[in-house]
Amino acid sequence: MNHIFIDQVSDHVDKNVRFKGWITHTRPSGKLVFLEIRDGTGMIQCVVFKDHVDENVYIAAKSITIETSLIIDGIIKRDKRSTIGFELNVSHIEILHQPVEEYPISTKNHGPAFLHENRHLWIRSKKQTAILKIRSNIIKYSREYFDTQGFIAFDAPILTQASCEGTTMLFETRYFDEKAYLSQSGQLYNEAGALALGRVYSLGPTFRAEKSKTRRHLTEFWMIEPEAAFFDLKMIMELAQNYVAYIISKIVDLNKTELDILERNIIKLENITIPFPEISYDDAINILRENNQKINWGEDFGAEEESILSNHFEKPVMIKKYPASCKAFYMKNDTEKPDLALCYDMLAPEGYGEIIGGGQREDDYFILKKKIMENNLNIEDFNWYLDLRKYGSVPHAGFGLGIERTVAWICGLKHVRETIPFPRLMDRIRP
Ligand code: 4AD
Ligand code: MG
Repeated sequence: MNHIFIDQVSDHVDKNVRFKGWITHTRPSGKLVFLEIRDGTGMIQCVVFKDHVDENVYIAAKSITIETSLIIDGIIKRDKRSTIGFELNVSHIEILHQPVEEYPISTKNHGPAFLHENRHLWIRSKKQTAILKIRSNIIKYSREYFDTQGFIAFDAPILTQASCEGTTMLFETRYFDEKAYLSQSGQLYNEAGALALGRVYSLGPTFRAEKSKTRRHLTEFWMIEPEAAFFDLKMIMELAQNYVAYIISKIVDLNKTELDILERNIIKLENITIPFPEISYDDAINILRENNQKINWGEDFGAEEESILSNHFEKPVMIKKYPASCKAFYMKNDTEKPDLALCYDMLAPEGYGEIIGGGQREDDYFILKKKIMENNLNIEDFNWYLDLRKYGSVPHAGFGLGIERTVAWICGLKHVRETIPFPRLMDRIRP
């Protein structure tokens, strides 16, 4: 028998096929039993008709339970009532494994705590598989974008000896006889890569011991970080918008089924075309004040402010040139207004907030050294990084896009915890 996947049914109409999968739903009705199965690629309704199968097959079908694994044979028939347009007329069933106990997740409304405790099972459900498929494509086409734009995949280490994004958010670990930290960002290493290879990108897990319980914060998340030599702020902002528009167009094109399952408003995504609006930090402050926010010049934006700014635009908005005092040590200062950093954040619309942080890097040896000292960082740990400004320093820029926040936005989810197979949150490290 020809084993096929559910997403291949349209090529096998009126043919005998075999599926290998799991039961998601059963419904006996007179001489019929309707079995819905999934195999990872999709779901299909399988109809067992008492008069068309051996008696033992019919009996097995009648008592089959959710999440039984099985091999199921039959003929594919077109069916207008089916959501996928096809169903299987079953001829034979071979049960591989019957659940030892009743499957804990049912169609009834479970609370998020219960679902997260059962995340290893919850990921089998329709909505969760749709999200994970979109995540997979976001990663795939992110890589494809940078690969085809001349960027070299460059892997930054996870175990590091210094901080990139602030010492208060580091996860510390033992590294034989020394202390080490889990990487907060591959950026500093990517800068070394950019000076070696011109244009590089890293994609990997990053860690922040952030004591934040917001819907945007994970302690372990994935970031894609391009870094390019001879790029300035303007060039890196252009790259970021082209990249984000590309990802959106791919997902809208290739994941219609999944976006549909998630009931995502696709029109809002289709409208995400370049150019994206671009405003300055000062403009952003004005918008916030118009919206009755009390914010002082010099402060970074918090979750609430980001939501307001993000709701103000239909497309992702790029906010540039924040006060240098509220941003990381490695940012280059604006030559015209030295109290500003040549940085930017991209905020996704619909209240999603920051998905990208990036900018131009300080490329002067003496200024960077001074900044490292001013930030009370251990200069010994940064000697290698300073070498990049000692030998063949050039203007360079880069950014980091958080995969989970991007998945949350594209899928229209309330919380980032559903965007990664096994979320790590301040209060969750299991399963
Ligand atoms: O703005 P961030 O902190 O920038 C950096 O780490 C730079 N070194 C990146 C670079 O220029 N190469 O983080 C970048 C992005 C954020 O915009 C956000 O999307 C995501 O990473 N991010 C988080 N996502 C989930 N949970 C968290 N706790 C996150 N912190 C940052
Ligand atoms: Mg940021």
